[in-house]
Amino acid sequence: MKTKITELFNIQHPIIQGGMHYVGFAEMAAAVSNAGGLGIITALTQPSAEALANEIARCREMTDKPFGVNLTFLPVVNSPDYAGMVKAIIEGGVKVVETAGNNPVQVLPALHEAGIKVIHKCTSVRHALKAQSIGCDAVSVDGFECGGHPGEDDIPNMILLPRAADELDIPFISSGGQADGRSLVASLAMGADGMNMGTRFIATQEAPVHQNVKDAIVTASELDTRLVMRPLRNTERVMNNRAVEKLLEIEKEKGDDLQFTDVIEQVAGVYPKIMKEGTMDAGAWSCGMVAGLINDIPTCQQLIDRIMNEADAIINERLSGFQNS
Ligand SMILES: Cc1cc2nc3c(=O)[nH]c(=O)nc-3n(C[C@H](O)[C@H](O)[C@H](O)COP(=O)(O)O)c2cc1C
Repeated sequence: MKTKITELFNIQHPIIQGGMHYVGFAEMAAAVSNAGGLGIITALTQPSAEALANEIARCREMTDKPFGVNLTFLPVVNSPDYAGMVKAIIEGGVKVVETAGNNPVQVLPALHEAGIKVIHKCTSVRHALKAQSIGCDAVSVDGFECGGHPGEDDIPNMILLPRAADELDIPFISSGGQADGRSLVASLAMGADGMNMGTRFIATQEAPVHQNVKDAIVTASELDTRLVMRPLRNTERVMNNRAVEKLLEIEKEKGDDLQFTDVIEQVAGVYPKIMKEGTMDAGAWSCGMVAGLINDIPTCQQLIDRIMNEADAIINERLSGFQNS
């Protein structure tokens, strides 16, 4: 399938794997890219710019296809070494960067000068327009359904995507709640030129996470995620578990007085315990409502081939079948 996004990123299928903390290692990115999508390494999972450079080199050994790097700008006091990471990305020959969190304006000139395309992930039309105005090449429009940080507006993709289509001139992809051929065709129908998936890619053979994480996603229904940290205006959609129930109790108790330190035990430094060790109740981990649509653990190639075949059947059989009736 050819869209503005496949052309922009030089990929076969308009399917992107969003950056994911402690999931977006070289193995994940290479598997998605080898299957014809765009795999993405998550920069901040690496302890340093040097480690990111090594991860990029490792990924390059596993695939000769394009892959990207996610740079998430966090509202933290001790900022990570973004300049070093940008240098590692440029020197590593990466051609696509997914930015997320705060406005990426400070890294755009260096990335563009190196011929790197930038796709910024946004949860609102106003942020998407801002990304367009500062020169981003594309945006990833992340609806309320998404795993991770859906922002504070709570607009689901059924509204957000057509709104983005009405306002934007640059190409965009859907993100949040996407799982299969139906998602892809619906996204294209609403004006997107591709789709981004997070949670769906964790439940694949190649995702470098503990089997317990994949099993938890397959077992979960669409009712099993929760929103945490809303009082801190840092809302995150996570899989429900004992730590999340405790966190929500603390939020209820503290009300508007909630501080980050009140929930630090449930959210800080928990990813290695969950993703690597499979200790599923160790804390809050991002997961989308789309878990309700995930019932198997295919390879990335099987998943992407299935999505493209389903999309083809929906467009050429189901939808075209309506024409003359
Ligand atoms: C476990 C997990 C970790 C994530 N970590 C990040 C991250 O570090 N940076 C980022 O920009 N997005 C992160 N995301 C969001 C994804 O890139 C993507 O936007 C989101 O998962 C899309 O929603 P979906 O899960 O419904 O597909 C994460 C998502 C998950 C599920």
